Amino acid sequence: MSGVFITFEGGDGSGKTTQILRLASALREVGCEPLLLREPGGTVVGEGVRDILLDPRHEGLDPVAETLLFAASRAQLSATVIKPALDAGRVVICDRYADSTVAYQGYGRGLDLDTVRGVNAWATRGLVPDCTILLDVDPAEGIAAATPAEADRLEREEIAFHARIRAGYLQMAQAEPERWTVIKRDRADVVWAALVAALAPVLERAGIRLEA
Ligand SMILES: Nc1ncnc2c1ncn2[C@@H]1O[C@H](COP(=O)(O)OP(=O)(O)OP(=O)(O)O)[C@@H](O)[C@H]1O
Ligand SMILES: [Mg+2]
Repeated sequence: MSGVFITFEGGDGSGKTTQILRLASALREVGCEPLLLREPGGTVVGEGVRDILLDPRHEGLDPVAETLLFAASRAQLSATVIKPALDAGRVVICDRYADSTVAYQGYGRGLDLDTVRGVNAWATRGLVPDCTILLDVDPAEGIAAATPAEADRLEREEIAFHARIRAGYLQMAQAEPERWTVIKRDRADVVWAALVAALAPVLERAGIRLEA
């Protein structure tokens, strides 16, 4: 038996958490208890790595070190949590996964894309999502939604960084259209309808039918 592995990607404030929570409650309504995970984190080791990454004392963290910390958290999560849950037939929903590292450390920070992909493949032991949802939003809009008070103070450079991430995500989605679905920013219920349509085939394989 094999479960369903769904990941959500997109810039900051693109609506990932909003849609994941709605998806989780829709799944529960049809009798399926999904496993919700976030990256970095989801394991004791991963939460420790998360604390290192978020600690303001670690400002100036080297991008390669940053990439490897994300990879360490991901290796622990995929081996000890995601893989066993999928083997047990569960629906696993991850708020960010390996693609985030390609987008942020690769396209965003400019690390070699193939190297980042190689690190990901090693860390995940080749475990790739069945379906990846890209919530696509203009970075200025997403950042404004996430942190309204901070938005004005964002420097141009920071916007450019997020614009590279957005373009990178779109490129990744285009390169692997059978795995990715791009959903553009719209009203939350319009996004939700697109999400249900995108997930229907993969959920159906597991015998799950969502009410739209
Ligand atoms: N479709 C939408 N239209 C307008 N506002 C939205 C939409 N979806 C979410 N929001 C709002 O935008 C903000 C960010 O949404 P959310 O936290 O779901 O994004 P996120 O991608 O999880 O962000 P983060 O990267 O910070 O975790 C929230 O205030 C949320 O209510
Ligand atoms: Mg979130």
